[in-house]
Amino acid sequence: MSLVLKNICKDYLVVTQRVQALKDITITIARGSLVAVTGKSGAGKSTLLHVIGTLERPTSGSLCIDGRDVSLASDAAASEFRNTAIGFIFQASNLLPEFSALENVMMPALIGGCSYRQARARAAQLLERTALGARLHHRPAELSGGEQQRTAIARALCMNPALILADEPTGNLDKKTGIKVRELLLELCAAFKATMLLVTHDQDLASCFKQRLCMEDGRIIEQQLC
Ligand SMILES: Nc1ncnc2c1ncn2[C@@H]1O[C@H](COP(=O)(O)OP(=O)(O)OP(=O)(O)O)[C@@H](O)[C@H]1O
Ligand SMILES: [Mg+2]
Repeated sequence: MSLVLKNICKDYLVVTQRVQALKDITITIARGSLVAVTGKSGAGKSTLLHVIGTLERPTSGSLCIDGRDVSLASDAAASEFRNTAIGFIFQASNLLPEFSALENVMMPALIGGCSYRQARARAAQLLERTALGARLHHRPAELSGGEQQRTAIARALCMNPALILADEPTGNLDKKTGIKVRELLLELCAAFKATMLLVTHDQDLASCFKQRLCMEDGRIIEQQLC
């Protein structure tokens, strides 16, 4: 999936204070790119991911995904697009506590109208792939942090998304588990030919990416995009 952002601004108004979280962002990300997004806390990294993921609308500017201007899409169209084309991975795995790993991973497929059988088969296959084949029926509280994060990765991949948006996916993990999750993410992105933007504070993780964006105070201050 290719992304073209033109003059994207995102303002928040809190009481009477205006926060300019994104200031005139213009970037083009080619299909299949794997991009690390770095920058200090408050620089606008998560906001950029939320705008690209259509979770939030920009205040101004345009966002074209595969040539389609999604900033003009209705809420319903944006939500359908999100479920089918985008996989989100957050720092906390955000799994539904009352459901098993298998059910959590199946959820996007069921919401997307897949049959129970198909969704189950796909989810089980992804959990095998993320080395959780022996944990299908565990609830999140019965999984380790790394296992929860791998379940979240499997869930993000359930709809075979063309775009993966990962916000500090290894932020809560110890170094060794973080490296395993990183390797898994890169391997799966390559296998699925997905475009990925990954936010990280971890320089080791960022250095695994040839393409990088560095943000500061709502702007992109450095970019290495092919
Ligand atoms: N919903 C919101 N309402 C008001 N201000 C917000 C909101 N979300 C973010 N901001 C502000 O926008 C700026 C950018 O926030 P953002 O969450 O994108 O930063 P970040 O780079 O992801 O930081 P971190 O590394 O700490 O996660 C910050 O100054 C923040 O206070
Ligand atoms: Mg953030």
